[in-house]
Amino acid sequence: MNIYKSIEDLQAFVEAERAKGLRIAFVPTMGALHAGHLSLVRRALSECDRCIVSVFVNPTQFNDPRDLETYPRTLEADSTLLASVSASALFAPEVSTIYPEEDTRTFDVGAVAEVMEGRYRPGHFNGVMQVVSRLFDIVRPDCAYFGEKDFQQIAVIRAMVRLIGSPVEIIACPIVREADGLALSSRNVRLSAEERREAPQIYRILSESRSWAKDMSPQQVIERVTEQINAVPHLRVEYFEIVDTDSLQPIASWSDSPAPHGCITVFCGEVRLIDNIAYH
Ligand code: PAF
Repeated sequence: MNIYKSIEDLQAFVEAERAKGLRIAFVPTMGALHAGHLSLVRRALSECDRCIVSVFVNPTQFNDPRDLETYPRTLEADSTLLASVSASALFAPEVSTIYPEEDTRTFDVGAVAEVMEGRYRPGHFNGVMQVVSRLFDIVRPDCAYFGEKDFQQIAVIRAMVRLIGSPVEIIACPIVREADGLALSSRNVRLSAEERREAPQIYRILSESRSWAKDMSPQQVIERVTEQINAVPHLRVEYFEIVDTDSLQPIASWSDSPAPHGCITVFCGEVRLIDNIAYH
């Protein structure tokens, strides 16, 4: 597997592959790769001829400088993992390569980026759209694969692609979980042993809430999920919302959406974990 740091070298590789008539997939990541990322690469390679993976910790999407500072950086281990699943190339640029000057672009994709993460992490999605649009311009893939753990991120990126008229097809892939249900995340390594033991309660309670939905309103389900998770030591719900899958706007009754979806953010100690579940 080739590793590229410069845009020119990466583009020379991609263009040579494209000239052979091959379909190019792209998996953007911030590194600290785990089985969830590898599942995206495997899926991409089952549907396309080549898969480019980027590892870039994007400073513009962090609204908390300490989070950016402590974000795990494990490029060597990442490249070994990517080679093990036959990724075609790793693009690992420096910050100055992606942002030779400050990126002042703002993307107005409307309400989809304003709720939930948009409310609790102001500027986060604009930073995600800056880097993803920049990476799409560099790699020029046919399609790009994203994990559904970041459920709102996929909706925001789809809206961005429509806004800028990008031809890249966005493909959403299912969440990969540990055997005990915890959604895989690069942040899980920061959990203490005790926090790690409690964290799977998030998905256990979310899963149980699907049966409550039969007799309760969305608001009642929200209250019960919040109460039960907050009762677990180390866990504190930041928000839990039940929204329509497409618009991401909250619903008052189950009949308000053909595909209601629950999105949650929970602090487990100091570590912010996100997860989500379908109610349809
Ligand atoms: O989901 C992520 O890891 C990041 O938000 C992404 C899409 C790689 C952009 O930096």
